[in-house]
Amino acid sequence: MKISRRAVLLGATAAGAASFAPSALGRMPLSRDTLPKSAPVRRLTLSAAEMEVPLLGPDKPKTSGFCAYNGTPFLTWRVPVGTRLLVDFENRLPNPTTVHWHGIRVPYLSDGVAPLTQQPIPAGGRFSYDVPLPDPGFYFFHPHCDETGQVGRGLFALLLVDDPAEARLGFDLEHIIAVKDWRLDADGRWLPIFTDEGASTAGTFGTVRATNGSVIPPRVEAPAYGDVRLRVIVADSTRTIEFGCETGDAAIIAVDGQALTPLPLSKLPDEVWRMGPAMRLDVHVRMPGPGEEVKIFDYRTAEPYLLTTLVAVDKGKKQTPFKPIALPAAKAPLPDVRRAKKLDFIVQTSAGATAIAPPLPPEDPLAKALIDSFCVGDKTFWAINRTSWGAGADLRLPPPLDILKDGDSYRLTITNVTKHVHPMHLHGHVFRVLSSTRKTSIPPYLADTVMTEPNETVEIAFKANSGDWVFHCHILEHMDAGLMGWFRVA
Ligand code: C2O
Ligand code: CU
Repeated sequence: MKISRRAVLLGATAAGAASFAPSALGRMPLSRDTLPKSAPVRRLTLSAAEMEVPLLGPDKPKTSGFCAYNGTPFLTWRVPVGTRLLVDFENRLPNPTTVHWHGIRVPYLSDGVAPLTQQPIPAGGRFSYDVPLPDPGFYFFHPHCDETGQVGRGLFALLLVDDPAEARLGFDLEHIIAVKDWRLDADGRWLPIFTDEGASTAGTFGTVRATNGSVIPPRVEAPAYGDVRLRVIVADSTRTIEFGCETGDAAIIAVDGQALTPLPLSKLPDEVWRMGPAMRLDVHVRMPGPGEEVKIFDYRTAEPYLLTTLVAVDKGKKQTPFKPIALPAAKAPLPDVRRAKKLDFIVQTSAGATAIAPPLPPEDPLAKALIDSFCVGDKTFWAINRTSWGAGADLRLPPPLDILKDGDSYRLTITNVTKHVHPMHLHGHVFRVLSSTRKTSIPPYLADTVMTEPNETVEIAFKANSGDWVFHCHILEHMDAGLMGWFRVA
């Protein structure tokens, strides 16, 4: 690895003690709208605040310092596709926050990434977000500033963007499964959510598993022989699940809210879909006969964890052969894969990053500047192509991973050379997952977050949309410990 002294110096000026200013790259990108000005508008108020919630279950001590939007744990908004949300947000938390609209193609100035697209909103502060909803699907929103702490204590909400055509598809029931664990002691008090040991390995896991906030796996009644649409989200900051169910009559119909040709679970390796933090899945499950059950599991743990039980009740429906229901085709812009420019990214530990820095005596000011330019602090454990995002309260920006051209297509290979999984998320785009060196039998599909396993290379492609967009691991401690970079698209 050769880095000239001059390049190092330039890098150091860009990202040294003073913060790297995105404006140093020239004119800021256009913050592009994804809906026409005439789109129907819905004005909503949103606040974030702490509250007290019985997380350990009834008759157990309550947990204070839970963070929720609009005073509602698991707040869920449903909005017709094509609507523009104008969200007046107020921060009633004691700390700064922002709101990020995960998976939604918003103008980047509403993307909520501190300090890239906005400054953190201080306690008591307000911010207005312009959130056009051009694509139907299952999304969520969460802070992008002290994410580990705030999301860990409950701060996220679900956002379902409905296509009216879906009402005619014939589902008998829709049911949300939100996976979110809590890190509590036996008295319901929060345990440290960010730990160095976790942040440098697979992440710090919750001590209490829960589905939809309940430590008792929910039981849900559904019509016997009926068609259920499950909408599954891993809202946890750390946990990866292997989603599976006890019936062969089940098919994935959307990934991250984006429709795909139904993919029967039985065709998947081990008949499970691996979902890391932030990933969503829509699954069509056909119910068995009256009195029978379908159990939905996370098969990743040694002892499969029961997420939810669907109980078939007689509603007079007759048995018919199972045929997965296809959702209307996704409409997000598609990349031109043949003409796409190829870019390669390595997800690595920051120890690996510093190890390949030019060999300079530690007292050399250049060595110091170089370390600074990678933002490799005490709590920085991860990097993308040798660059780490500033850890913790360090709000310095590293230089961009690359500068892309608005409207051009890009093909990214992402290689995970670490010992842990990393669900990688790109803001502001829906991308096409083209291939994986480990999951060779899965046809290409659309997503906003893609799992990368140790020693796996995945290839994604997207059509670049104007803005400054981050690209990061959604295991929140990894992201808060350096595993984030950004692209300028101009
Ligand atoms: Cu849910 Cu930066 O993402
Ligand atoms: Cu990670």
